[in-house]
Amino acid sequence: ALPSAFAPRLIAWQRASGRHGLPWQGTRDPYRVWLSEIMLQQTQVSTVLGYYPRFLERFPDVAALAAAPIDDVMALWSGLGYYSRARHLHRCAQAVVAQHGGRFPRTAAELQTLPGIGASTAAAIAAFCFGERVSILDGNVRRVLSRVLAFEGDVAETAAQRALWAHAQALLPKAPEGDDMAAYTQGLMDLGATLCTRSKPACVVCPMVDLCAARMSGDPTRFPVKTRK
Ligand code: ADE
Repeated sequence: ALPSAFAPRLIAWQRASGRHGLPWQGTRDPYRVWLSEIMLQQTQVSTVLGYYPRFLERFPDVAALAAAPIDDVMALWSGLGYYSRARHLHRCAQAVVAQHGGRFPRTAAELQTLPGIGASTAAAIAAFCFGERVSILDGNVRRVLSRVLAFEGDVAETAAQRALWAHAQALLPKAPEGDDMAAYTQGLMDLGATLCTRSKPACVVCPMVDLCAARMSGDPTRFPVKTRK
């Protein structure tokens, strides 16, 4: 039941109870979605809300960002932290202009070749903007999936990571729900951020409660399995 029930449940839950109305949710412009994903990588939504509009005002498109001096970019990033993100951001904008004619590529595989865009960020942009059926797998999503599956692999290991990517692909929505990869992808993020939290998962209100193998095991926080180093 899990593989076929997971995606429709997640999409229905996201529509009813997920996060809505954030400034990067109302657009399919890859520049705007990319910028939000980079800012959100290591920074809370509430903090990003104070930076994202200012950044877009100064750099409304990828060409404007690519043409700007790096010092201007760093100045607008100041306070967000993890400054290598801002340097990669600038280099990525320049690569989009120089190598792609100023248009972001439309597949996760191509997006991933750009500076600062890893597998999960590439998948998020491709799913949100172009509806590609590809899964994200950031820390929150890894937790959600390893719990619903009661995945015993040690997620610190490369082989287990690869297995989890395969599981993530298997859980993706099929047609017709597959049309809403944006809701599905946002739902994965929101479930991990708001209900399926690290130490106090809210299983009683979780849409997956009856499908979740970790919940059924009685000890959901045992997942994801991670060796102490
Ligand atoms: N973290 C990373 N991407 C996000 C998004 N699109 N919405 C909320 N939190 C996120």
